[in-house]
Amino acid sequence: MPFSWAPMWRFRKPLPLKHVMLYGGVLAYLVCSWPVWALATATPRHDESLSRGKALYEKACLLCHGRTGEGNGPDAFYLGAYSAPRPQDFTGAEFKFRSTASGELPTDADLFQTITKGIPGFMPAFRGLSEADRWDIVRYIQSFATVNQETASTPILLPPGPLPATPESIARGQEVYTLLDCAKCHGPQATKPGGLYAQGKLRDRRDLPILPLDLRHLSSFKNGHRPQEIAQSILTGLDGTPMASFRETLSAQPEDIWHLVNYLISLSRSP
Ligand code: HEC
Ligand code: HEC
Repeated sequence: MPFSWAPMWRFRKPLPLKHVMLYGGVLAYLVCSWPVWALATATPRHDESLSRGKALYEKACLLCHGRTGEGNGPDAFYLGAYSAPRPQDFTGAEFKFRSTASGELPTDADLFQTITKGIPGFMPAFRGLSEADRWDIVRYIQSFATVNQETASTPILLPPGPLPATPESIARGQEVYTLLDCAKCHGPQATKPGGLYAQGKLRDRRDLPILPLDLRHLSSFKNGHRPQEIAQSILTGLDGTPMASFRETLSAQPEDIWHLVNYLISLSRSP
């Protein structure tokens, strides 16, 4: 005899109302809660990158930069107890090592470079991390920002150069150093910190006394000591410190930046 469902339905008693309500309720709950569950368990690529960045940050950066990225990790105070620099505060908008104009945020690539190169004397280089890891960390530290990041910053253009370090170029560089009064902070011929430092007038944005960099030691340049890197530091300025941007001042004779750079490099080579 062929199989038929009919007898089953014929002898079934109608379901009691309370069962209908119970099963209906469970079904309605499952249907309604599905979108919430689906959203909660969905992990877009960006979130994966952020959570990897967070895990790496907590191992490699937290001690100095702090859990909330404000530069107040357990070690931060001891790095700069009574003087600058303290570890960077990632919630703010002032960064020192940028390819962008003064007052602008660094580009993603600038942050990637800082993590890769480290900061001589203050922060280790993280070349040992894979590139993907370093990009995940960049995403994570950007997530601390409380400032508007919607307008993407663009790097400034360096004037054509560098120029050959001829004796004439170095001599012109020395002239520019005097004309722009770099000496008031870096000292005449960059021999010792200039007058403003001696008077205690040089402070960073946390109001901590800050030492102008000793320009006779190229390897201590925090932003790197290739000609392009030195030119960038002088043209964009180190935001949050008294080292301002000289881009406007040098705009009348843009090639002077390369003479100045040649002069600074020559200081390290002279005995
Ligand atoms: C040993 C402490 C230490 C560790 C570890 C450390 N930093 Fe730093 N970091 C510093 C200090 C100090 C500064 C400020 C240096 C200065 O302003 O001259 C700084 C500055 C920075 C800056 C800002 C540079 C600028 O343009 O102003 C970035 C970005 C940065 N650190 C990222 C990181 C990341 C990411 C990690 C982990 C992978 C990390 N740091 C680990 C001490 C540390
Ligand atoms: C008002 C004071 C002041 C003046 C003027 C000044 N500087 Fe600086 N400069 C500083 C301070 C302070 C630092 C150190 C900032 C830091 O370590 O965060 C610095 C750092 C630097 C650095 C190091 C960048 C790096 O990678 O670490 C260079 C290069 C430099 N100055 C060149 C110059 C030149 C060239 C001039 C003149 C055109 C000049 N500075 C004028 C205060 C000044």
